[in-house]
Amino acid sequence: MAQIIGGVGTSHVPSIGVALDKGLDGTPDWKPFFDGYEAGKAWMRAARPDVAVVIFNDHGNSFFLDRVPTFAVGVADRYRPVDEGWGRRAIPDFEGAAELSWHFVDKLVESHFDPLVCREIDVDHGLQVPMELFFGRPEAWPVKVLPIWVNTIQYPIPTPQRCWEMGKVLRAAIESFPGDERVVIMGTGGLSHQLQGRRAGFINREADLAWLDGIANDPGRYRDMSREDYVETFGSEGAELIMWLVMRAAMNPEVKLVHKHYHAPASMTGAGMVVLENA
Ligand code: DHB
Ligand code: FE
Repeated sequence: MAQIIGGVGTSHVPSIGVALDKGLDGTPDWKPFFDGYEAGKAWMRAARPDVAVVIFNDHGNSFFLDRVPTFAVGVADRYRPVDEGWGRRAIPDFEGAAELSWHFVDKLVESHFDPLVCREIDVDHGLQVPMELFFGRPEAWPVKVLPIWVNTIQYPIPTPQRCWEMGKVLRAAIESFPGDERVVIMGTGGLSHQLQGRRAGFINREADLAWLDGIANDPGRYRDMSREDYVETFGSEGAELIMWLVMRAAMNPEVKLVHKHYHAPASMTGAGMVVLENA
């Protein structure tokens, strides 16, 4: 059966991709941020995954506000990086893990989830940036991807508890998939940020630092919070953090926190990363 070899959590701020496009990753502003990912990249090389499950939200690029699925799953053979308004970025297309995707969709529906199933769709910075942070800028991506979109853009967003339940189904799907794929799960978004309204610019460093340890060692605390708690604690866009719960619930109750990194601000965001292994 396929196996889960680890889980990572990471921010997906679009300006990280722009910094890489412009070769700014060695500048004083960006170097401390990118340096913190070296350990994560080395871990990923050593872990040799075949598939990356990437849990992210679209930002009005592939879904607009006229039709917003609460959960969507890609079952395509290929995903193109979407043009977010500045032209197509010079990164390779993503090969889809279509068979595993269909198996996951089956398990979701059996478990009373009702995802939107996407045969053809592009992927925005929510998926692109985490892939670049952990796999660099290769000629071709070394893994296939299984994209999962979670609505964190337009209310009502799903509850943290529902994201947690989805993570359990994800685990069951991977562990019942006939094959020998090594699967890494990537929860993306956050950490604290608010891009709009009266609290625009809000960052909660203390809550961010607590999150990086707590998501590993005390995740029930974050599973049980309300959506309003997320917005209050992490900002309206920081509520993207509910997507890390899908990753965390797919791991063992006890995990080892192998790497973590925090840098703020990256753009207007508290940027963080963890690497988790099952204990
Ligand atoms: C920013 C952060 C995000 O997560 C995002 O999707 C877009 C912008 C930012 O801080 O600029
Ligand atoms: Fe985002």
